[in-house]
Amino acid sequence: VAAPPSPTLADWVARIDPSPTSELEARVAEMIEASVPVWRLGLGEPDFATPDHVKDAAIAAIRSDFTRYTHTGGIPSLRQAIVDRLKADLGVVYAVDEVIVSVGGKHALYNAIRTLCRPGDEVLIPSPYWVTYPQQVKLSGAIPVIVPCSSAPEYKLEAETLEAHLSPHSRLVVLNDPNNPTGAVYRPEELAELAHICLDNDLYVVSDEVYSAFTYVPWGHTSIASLPAMRDRTVLVHAVSKSYGMTGWRIGYAAAPKTVVEAMLTLQSHVTSNPNSIAQRAAEAALVAPQDGVEQARQEYDARRRALISALHTVHGLRCSLPDGAFYVWVDASAWCGRVLGGRLVGNADDLAAILLDQAQVAVVPGTGFGADSHLRLSFAAPLAEILEGVERMRALLGSA
Ligand SMILES: Cc1ncc(COP(=O)(O)O)c(C=O)c1O
Repeated sequence: VAAPPSPTLADWVARIDPSPTSELEARVAEMIEASVPVWRLGLGEPDFATPDHVKDAAIAAIRSDFTRYTHTGGIPSLRQAIVDRLKADLGVVYAVDEVIVSVGGKHALYNAIRTLCRPGDEVLIPSPYWVTYPQQVKLSGAIPVIVPCSSAPEYKLEAETLEAHLSPHSRLVVLNDPNNPTGAVYRPEELAELAHICLDNDLYVVSDEVYSAFTYVPWGHTSIASLPAMRDRTVLVHAVSKSYGMTGWRIGYAAAPKTVVEAMLTLQSHVTSNPNSIAQRAAEAALVAPQDGVEQARQEYDARRRALISALHTVHGLRCSLPDGAFYVWVDASAWCGRVLGGRLVGNADDLAAILLDQAQVAVVPGTGFGADSHLRLSFAAPLAEILEGVERMRALLGSA
């Protein structure tokens, strides 16, 4: 019997890169399945549970049959809760119809990028970047322009570098503050310089602030939307995922001028309709309750990041500094590239991550998908004992500094 013809797929399929870590993730899953212990230092989600009052709200929603379609952009009470939280936490004032609830922060980002980008528009993405941005830009028919940020100052986008990458096609800047993977947190004056360039050059900003609750520096988090005249050219993206240990509930949101939100609503109405009704009630409970749990998590992460950095400084050939925000450490492993480790050549961070997994059972994320192939991303959203044991195992393989 002849093999069935393979279908011809749409052009975009070939333009989108699959997750560079999927092979590694599959290997971790296999090891866990086979009961091989793995020290997981790559996780991109909080290790603490969704709070009880949030779970209770979801259970109550099910019990009261709150299980039907809702308004596409989210129930009014959740949108109001978002408006209130943005005002209280970030000092930015929006109306309820300037907010849209989506299926996670990732979906809100996609809606925003898809809504703002026209074919051939250039989207400036500071590097290192979260893996998804360039792919979403390409999916929107626009062109990602990667803007390299050097390690000094702390991998932050500087005004001159942004300016040097502008062209007549520049449309949008994707800013991620606090940053995944570097942990960089912009100071208000640094944002003001970037804002100045955006205003001068008629650029929009998609500001991904999903880690805003987790900063460890005196200047804390500032939203670029809170700077003069920036609210009208910013789509602020946030989510309940990281702040409240709710990654699986899939609730994110965007706040932007009404015309942008209306367009995002139209897009969403034909793609997903409303996000899950039960998860919306849960998200509302998370946003309106006292925020002590978030502060407790922040303090816990603060202690862990110090412990992780101290431990990593004892490992040979790894360079890193204390991150200012989020829950990641960005490790320069270039000293290992081109060397032989455990009988295998380390060509890049992918090889190093594979060797660490095979020979030390430590799972870390190679920087390749973030635009840096000699870096590793480690997470401190894992229990401290696991973090320290994992680094100890890395030290046993890589040697002491
Ligand atoms: C920088 C950044 N933005 C957005 C997201 C997406 O969050 P969500 O799980 O709400 O889609 C993530 C998740 O890892 C992230 O790291």
